[in-house]
Amino acid sequence: MGVIGVLTAGGDCPGLNAVIRGVVGRAIEHDIEVVGIENGWEGLMQDRTRPLDRNSVRGILGRGGTILGTSRMDPYVHGDGLATCEPTLKRNGIDTLIVIGGDGTLRSAMRLAQEGVGIIGVPKTIDNDIAGTDITFGFQTAVQIATEAIDRLATTAESHNRVIIVEVMGRTKGWIATHAGIAGGADYVIIPEHPYDIDDVVSTLRKRHRSGHHYSIVVVAEGAQPPPGYDAMDLKKDVFGFDRLGGVAYQIADAIEDLTSFETRVSILGHIQRGGTPAASDRVLATRLGVKAADLAAEGATKVMVAVRGPDIVAVPIEEATSSIRGVPDELYNTAETFFG
Ligand code: F6P
Repeated sequence: MGVIGVLTAGGDCPGLNAVIRGVVGRAIEHDIEVVGIENGWEGLMQDRTRPLDRNSVRGILGRGGTILGTSRMDPYVHGDGLATCEPTLKRNGIDTLIVIGGDGTLRSAMRLAQEGVGIIGVPKTIDNDIAGTDITFGFQTAVQIATEAIDRLATTAESHNRVIIVEVMGRTKGWIATHAGIAGGADYVIIPEHPYDIDDVVSTLRKRHRSGHHYSIVVVAEGAQPPPGYDAMDLKKDVFGFDRLGGVAYQIADAIEDLTSFETRVSILGHIQRGGTPAASDRVLATRLGVKAADLAAEGATKVMVAVRGPDIVAVPIEEATSSIRGVPDELYNTAETFFG
């Protein structure tokens, strides 16, 4: 008995539909109804919902995006917090809200939990930087896409004796860049949490080109800083006032070309990394997270987030997700570094 509400908020991510399907499939076993809330927090604030049954989640496991829609609205930024959400919760008889979102979304979910709403968080981002969990769903898909892009860019770079800078997502941490850099054999990886020296990048590439390999691939996370003297472009802001990132690869490319005279090109992968079908590993992970979230709802749990810990899916306090941002450990970056140049 009871009703679960489920919403997806913030940027989309491959595997969202697999989570929704996991929640609905397991909730049915617990005899709990599920109400889907459309367009993230916006639907909760504006009472836009629809029932989700077994039929409504058939055929969605491998589909990209989210069948519920998403938005960048937030009840504490664009409304009066609980007061704005309460009518929808009451009208639908929702006991527990399963919130699938990134750290900002989980922070607002935590505030609602503190005001008495039953909340279970499901961490979501291709950036893989949410604390409290070993990995987030969608990340492995993004790494696969970025790796395939590197493989393709390497052959054209080789044909033309060029340097290609591949910019991947990673707002404050360089998980996609480091993993795709290792998997794609990048000649340099530049990430926000690891300060770099453009002279070292240049000498590494020069050494490589002198050894007879006249092309290079440099992978850059979008949140990296431009080299000194190469000013960042003016970036537009999103609804929360955060920079809409994208383009630092151009400043890095300019610096490399200026300092080496190697012909340099830029390829920004952008939302290609977020769209399309999730990898098999993300479908499995997202399904397990959705199922666990429904189990926790059935137990009456609140203020928790489902998380990956080693081989297990566990419940952790939701604060763990919002207390810090998880960066790439030195050991992982050093592994990429071993193959630079
Ligand atoms: O999900 C996080 C992220 O992928 C960041 O890496 C990126 O900066 C951001 O989303 C872009 O999202 P949008 O273009 O939807 O605002």
